[in-house]
Amino acid sequence: MMVFDDILPCLTNILTPHLGALKSSLYPIYINRDLNGRVRLIVNEIHETDPNIADLLAAIAIEIFEKLSPHGFPPEHAILWEVDPKALLSDKTKVALDGCPGVFVIDRLAVDGDWSVIAPVAETPQRVAFFSIKGGVGRSTALAATAWALAEQGLRVLVLDLDLESPGLSSSLLPSDRRPKRGIVDWLVEDLVDNGDAVLGDIVASSLLSREGEISVVPAHGGDPGDYIGKLGRVWMPKLDAQGGRETWTKRLARLLDLLEARLKPDIVLLDSRAGIDETAAACLTGLGASLILLFALDGDQTWTGARIVCRHWLNTGVVLKIRERLQVVGAMLPETDTANYLDSLTESAWTVFSDEVYDEVPAGSVSNVDGSWSFDRADNPAPHTPWPIRWHRGFAALRNLHDRLDGIDPKEVYAIFGPLIDGVRDVTGLEPVRP
Ligand SMILES: Nc1ncnc2c1ncn2[C@@H]1O[C@H](COP(=O)(O)OP(=O)(O)OP(=O)(O)O)[C@@H](O)[C@H]1O
Ligand SMILES: [Mg+2]
Repeated sequence: MMVFDDILPCLTNILTPHLGALKSSLYPIYINRDLNGRVRLIVNEIHETDPNIADLLAAIAIEIFEKLSPHGFPPEHAILWEVDPKALLSDKTKVALDGCPGVFVIDRLAVDGDWSVIAPVAETPQRVAFFSIKGGVGRSTALAATAWALAEQGLRVLVLDLDLESPGLSSSLLPSDRRPKRGIVDWLVEDLVDNGDAVLGDIVASSLLSREGEISVVPAHGGDPGDYIGKLGRVWMPKLDAQGGRETWTKRLARLLDLLEARLKPDIVLLDSRAGIDETAAACLTGLGASLILLFALDGDQTWTGARIVCRHWLNTGVVLKIRERLQVVGAMLPETDTANYLDSLTESAWTVFSDEVYDEVPAGSVSNVDGSWSFDRADNPAPHTPWPIRWHRGFAALRNLHDRLDGIDPKEVYAIFGPLIDGVRDVTGLEPVRP
């Protein structure tokens, strides 16, 4: 029985014997994989009346139906005739079909969050995404500590809680009486009816934790969440304009970030992403132009299976070069005992995935990062796979109130745990402390 994962290899087998004949007239060739996971060819309609091509396509259509069923259409519906497929599909995600140069699969997904549409890096201010495959690894705590430390150095830090389905970051930076009236979800819902400006000023609050710089916090929801479920169910909506234009929710979020930056003039933006292979996480990692994407990792199969899935998707959709130099592994909650062995094993796991999916293959004996290749040895430091370590510390375990913990904390205590992360973020983004 044919299943989803068999579709692409089977298409390769079907098309390979016909490549020569197809090449002369049809290239590039597009295959549509629809929302139900059924495939058909997309062909320029000028070929509809050419008997040679029509016969060849009819034979391929029969083969697709017979071999791909139930993932193929009946032959009479197996070809979509389009006026100008190349122009029509110019902005769509294309997966190159293995072994068939010039053949591309257009993948239609039921969700708008697209892992393979990579926004260019936003330069000023730089944006840093805090992401992990597994939840509960100390991402939000580390983000709050980083915001606190950078602000201590006199910097203006903007923090967004983009973990919309499980918000909480803002409570670590704001006491309950300082929460803003509304949050990101309110703006996203109002924006659908062109009413975003009415709430923009109500979604930011300034944290009193900062004595030198500024920490502006934009929570997922306001002090009173209101009908949060009712709003959350609408934030993913694309916005349609009168001309039929369509702005995805990721683009709307990017627009909100631009507006906040124009208003608050931060030196750096820290984004608390949702964990896992999730639509909100996709927006945060790929759609907002983050120049640094921190992958918080515990050593274990769950983290590395998930990380490999995401990296392989970037590889297969041809976008890995656009994103790989932004990635950095963070070793989350390093155990108190046997720390060196744990870190070594974490580094090995990270290196295995990065060298398989992300780094260029460098022939044995040659030097990495010469001749334009981009690769790192296992022992290289710094390297994207070499974890920035964060130690597990009982003083941060199972905190009921991180805000009170950070209030008046000794900087040395923060640096002893989060120092490599804080320094790493500052160095990679090229930020100069205003007050060293
Ligand atoms: N370095 C640390 N040492 C010990 N405990 C920590 C550390 N960092 C965070 N914690 C604790 O671990 C728990 C999870 O932390 P946090 O909420 O920051 O994780 P998260 O990755 O953001 O989780 P989620 O995926 O649910 O958003 C909290 O109880 C927190 O107090
Ligand atoms: Mg969190």
